[in-house]
Parts: sequence; C-alpha cells; structure tokens
Amino acid sequence: MRAFTQPSFVAACQAPWTGSNSAVEFTQEIKSEEVDFGGGAAKAASEEHIPVLLREVVHSLIQADSGVYVDGTYGRGGHCRSMLARLAPDAKMIGLDRDPEAVAAAQVLAQADSRFSIFHARFSQLADVLEQAGVVGGAQGILLDIGVSSPQIDDASRGFSFNADGPLDMRMDPTQGLSAAEWLNTAVEEDIAKVLFVHGEERNSRHIAKNIVAARPLSTTLQLADIVEACVPRNRNNMGKHPATKTFQAIRIFINAEDQELRAGLEHAFAALAIGGRLAVISFHSLEDRQVKHVFRGLSRPPSMPRRLPVRHSDQGISARLIGKSIKAQSDELATNPRARSATLRVIERIC
Ligand SMILES: C[S@@+](CC[C@H](N)C(=O)[O-])C[C@H]1O[C@@H](n2cnc3c(N)ncnc32)[C@H](O)[C@@H]1O
Repeated sequence: MRAFTQPSFVAACQAPWTGSNSAVEFTQEIKSEEVDFGGGAAKAASEEHIPVLLREVVHSLIQADSGVYVDGTYGRGGHCRSMLARLAPDAKMIGLDRDPEAVAAAQVLAQADSRFSIFHARFSQLADVLEQAGVVGGAQGILLDIGVSSPQIDDASRGFSFNADGPLDMRMDPTQGLSAAEWLNTAVEEDIAKVLFVHGEERNSRHIAKNIVAARPLSTTLQLADIVEACVPRNRNNMGKHPATKTFQAIRIFINAEDQELRAGLEHAFAALAIGGRLAVISFHSLEDRQVKHVFRGLSRPPSMPRRLPVRHSDQGISARLIGKSIKAQSDELATNPRARSATLRVIERIC
C-alpha cells in the first residue's frame, strides 16, 4: 500500500503499470465470459452489486483497447471488470471510490490485474488522482455511475435503508463529515424542510421537518422512517413506494454533498479526457439526470450565431459532441435487475 502526500486521498493499492503476466492471465480469464447483466463476468465478479447498463457502457466507452480508462465510482467493480476484459495488456484502468469498503473490495482486483489501481478519493478529486498516477495526455474513457451501491443499501449498519433498522448514518465515507443523525439532531427546522424539498421533491417537507425536530434526538433509520410515514398521506401516486423514499434520498444527497460532487465531477472528468475520449454518466433520478443533461448540452451546443457563418468548433465554444440520446435499460435487463429501471446513461465525446 502506498499513501500519497495529500491527506485528502490515498492510493489504496497501486499496481505497477506494466503488462505483466497476471494482467494477461486475468484478461484471458474474463474475456471468455460475455458482457451480460444476468450472469457471466459481471455477476460472477460482483455478487453483491449488479452493474446497470453494462453492455451499453462498455460499448459506448471503449473505442480503443489501449490507453487510460477511469472508473470514478468503483462500487464492486462490475463495470470496471467488464471494461478491463475489453482492454489490452498495456492499458491502464484507474478506479476511485469514496467508500473505504469499496476500496477494500477493489484491492483484490488490483492485486490480480496489474493494469488496475484503486484510489480512495472522490471523483471531484480526479485531477489530483490522475496527476498522482502519472497520467499524461488524458483519459480515453471515464465512467461515473453515481449514487449508492447495493452493498451500501443492503448493509443496515450503513444507515441508508428504511427497510432495516440501523444507525442513522448515510455517509458513503464514514470517515468524513457529519452523519445523518448528527445533522438532523442539530439543524434548524427550515433547513431540514429545504433539504427534503430541494433534494427529494418531497411535498410534505415542512410537516416532516417539524415532526423530526419534535422527536429529537433521532438515532436510527426506522425511527426516521416511522416519523415520515406518519406525515405522508398514502395516495394513488405513492402507493408503490415506501413513504420515506424521498426523505431518505434527500438526506443522503445532502449528507454526501452529492450535487456539488456531481457538478465538480463532471467538470473535472471532462477536463481529464483526451481529445476523442468519452465520458459516460449513469444517474438514478431526474434531478441528477437534469444536471448531467444541462452540462452536456452546454459543452456540445454552440451559442446562437448567425447562420452559415464559417466558424470552427473551437471558435464556436463547442468542445464536445453528444453520443446518441439518453439510454435506458432494455426489457431483458429490467427482467433481471429492477434497480436498472431508474437508470439513465448519457455519453459525451471531447472533440477539442
Ligand atoms: C452505483 S455504485 C457503482 C457501482 C459500480 N459501477 C459497480 O459496477 O459495482 C456507486 C459507487 O460510487 C461511489 N461514489 C458515489 N459518489 C462518489 C464520489 N463523489 N466519488 C467517488 N465515489 C463515489 C459510492 O461509494 C458507490 O460505491
């Protein structure tokens, strides 16, 4: 293990950038399996998290089998392993995750495949990570599969779930910042209501915030879920969903500063691309997708100009082109992974 000088991130396990035998053996092993989300490489390698839109990510991101690729949200490595299976022995893959448990899981892959190295870092720190990794000339492909992983949700002790009782934590990186309980027990009512409304589009935000403040101190997930349940009237629109879904989403986004992360992550990831390199982003709710769409449009559309003016892309301020439209999971994937229903993939290519 090699720790870098910046306290903000750590190269948890850095493999040398050589096409050693272990890389080749690993490639051959995984290349024999298909990229499919129901079984095969992804599932065998990542029992706890089924990667979404795997086929589409690999297809749109891998244009050349060498160069530098980045998985900015390693999770349990489903996407990462499938991309590695498409890459040559001299390619490099850099993984990041802010969750120490994901980083620990990634160390197994880093030891098995010398093309891969993992960093405990946020994707907003990508520029620093690439500098520390000695990457020059930019990345060929970068993936951000944002949000939480199944292992994070399924482990009640992480505090993300309203279905199982656990400490009200919700931090993707429990070594940083305030837990959900610490924030809810100290924040003013108006701020809680604002967070629920802005990040969860929760109509009952004021009522829920009032009841949270009245019930303090909160310490467990089910305590919070019960408070919300008592405030959210059941109606036709929310029958299929747990009443606490929006509240938990909003608090998680706030506690992990996910909107700031996404904004900075998109900027840093795009800047880290080589010319011709691609950035793929998977989001899981409309607020995030809107943000991605807005940034991608800004990069790929010229400001309005008189028609037929002979101007180059660079003169127009265009630095990218969109690769297709937004992509949703197809029925075969939905049949095996219902979580893919809310996923949207957008891809952009840097052109100058
Ligand atoms: C949806 S999962 C990714 C799953 C992964 N693609 C796979 O196939 O296993 C999201 C992961 O991104 C991580 N994450 C979320 N926001 C992050 C950020 N700003 N920087 C780094 N990692 C982040 C989470 O900790 C989680 O492990």
